[in-house]
Amino acid sequence: MATVGWAVLPMSLSGAEGLDLKKECKASYLDGAFHQAGVGRGESLQVREDIRRDEVMWIQPCKASAHQMRYLANLETLRLALNERFFLGLFDFEGHFAIYQQGAYYKAHLDRHTGTSDRIVTIILYLNEGWQTGDGGELKLWTSAAGPNGCYELIEPRMGTMVCFMAEDFWHEVLPATKQRTSITGWFRQRS
Ligand code: OGA
Ligand code: MN
Repeated sequence: MATVGWAVLPMSLSGAEGLDLKKECKASYLDGAFHQAGVGRGESLQVREDIRRDEVMWIQPCKASAHQMRYLANLETLRLALNERFFLGLFDFEGHFAIYQQGAYYKAHLDRHTGTSDRIVTIILYLNEGWQTGDGGELKLWTSAAGPNGCYELIEPRMGTMVCFMAEDFWHEVLPATKQRTSITGWFRQRS
C-alpha cells in the first residue's frame, strides 16, 4: 500500500473462519436476503446487467453474526493501522457479501460514485474454497496510471485472499467464472 497503493494478502484469515463466513453467506442467500446489485446511488441507483451481475447483501453491523463481528473486528484493526501509517482519517467501513453466479461479471470501473469522495480504501476478501487456476473469476486490477489501457494484475479469488487498493486510483473488473464466486467487498470511508 505504501509504495504502489495496492496489496494482495493470500491467507489473510484461517480456513475455518473463511468457511464459517461462507456457510452463513450461503444460508442468507437461500433465505432470499440478497438482491441484484445496482450502479450509482440514491435516486440514480439502477440495475444495469450490462455492467454488473452480482447479487449482494449489505453487512449491518447492528445485526452482524459472531463470525461477521470477528471479521469486522479484524477490519477495525486494519482501519486503525492505515490511519496511523497514512493519516487517512478513515472513520468507518461499509461492505457487502457478493455472489457472482457462473458467467456473472462486473465490467471495468472505479469504486467511487460520481460526485463523491468518501470511499478511500477498497477491501475485498474472497471466500472460494478449492478455487483453481482456470476457474476464471479473476479480479483484473489495472496497476498503472494509464488505467484500463495499461498493465494489470489478475488476482484469483481464492479462499482467504484479501485485496486492498486506493479506491480512487485503480480501475478494476471482475471476469466471468465457470462457477459461483463469493466475496465480501467493502470500503473504508472518510467523512464527505
Ligand atoms: C466491487 C468489486 C471486485 C471483486 O464490488 O466493486 O469491484 O473481485 N468487486 O469482487
Ligand atoms: Mn469495484
